[in-house]
Amino acid sequence: MAISIYPITGNFAAEIGDVDLSAPLEPVEIGAIKRAFWDYAVLIFPAQNLTEQQHLDFAAHFGPLETSVAALNTKARLRLRADLADVSNLNSRNEIWGEQSRMRMLQLGNRLWHTDSSFKFLPARASLLYARQIPPIGGHTEFADLRAAYDALPDEMKRRLAGLVAEHSLANSRLRTGFTNFTEEERAGLPPAPQIVVRTLPENNRKSLYVASHAGRILGLPDEEGRALIDRLIAHATQRQFVYTHRWRLGDLVMWDDRCTMHRGTEFDDLRWTRDMHRATVSDIANSCEQERVAAA
Ligand code: OGA
Ligand code: MN
Repeated sequence: MAISIYPITGNFAAEIGDVDLSAPLEPVEIGAIKRAFWDYAVLIFPAQNLTEQQHLDFAAHFGPLETSVAALNTKARLRLRADLADVSNLNSRNEIWGEQSRMRMLQLGNRLWHTDSSFKFLPARASLLYARQIPPIGGHTEFADLRAAYDALPDEMKRRLAGLVAEHSLANSRLRTGFTNFTEEERAGLPPAPQIVVRTLPENNRKSLYVASHAGRILGLPDEEGRALIDRLIAHATQRQFVYTHRWRLGDLVMWDDRCTMHRGTEFDDLRWTRDMHRATVSDIANSCEQERVAAA
């Protein structure tokens, strides 16, 4: 049976029906999903029932899988395998985390607008977040369309941004939330990464902003000026007309294009309700500067 596509917004988010992601997919189904993914940038697959392996197998259709940054801390006991990012409020014993827990402090950064793994030299191409348990209130995820945000910039700003490179680091976004408590191992594993500020998506030739709270400065600009420009672009891109808010249902798998979207989690009472999400993440094909053929230094 052919998949069905139900747009939620004109050209940013769509629901995909008539597909069971737990079963092997036909090449025509994968082809149709990929086309929808490039047209939109956020796809929602409702009412899925996936094992961890089935979730990862579906993600692997889109490229090689990333290892979660949590695995960099070899002393931490992980609840999930290293190729799944644990986006829950649970500790390794499956209990709701403590108010002062390190995981909680670290994950606060997910409330800031960001795109996944832009702090890695080889960033993420796509993220696939699967809802295993959701709170009855709050805990939504908002998505911003960075292609539409780019299109809406004045020509003068587009000219100013052409060829600019920003330096992204997990420490930058965590500093914004007050978290500085990285281990030496984590620091060494996460050196700052250069990323282009405006990129072109090869599948449809659309241009997109590529910014996030992980960005700290812009190469060649005074720190303050670069930081102010990044903040201004994030504020521009997250205006209401560019944003889709996803209200989770149990069993939703939501997949987004990290190259041309930002997202953030909204608040919920994380000391009261369990929110258990698993994220599979697909790597991009190369660093964003390399893809634009811009020198990254
Ligand atoms: C993520 C993320 C936000 C949320 O999974 O990458 O940022 O709402 N999630 O859980
Ligand atoms: Mn994220």
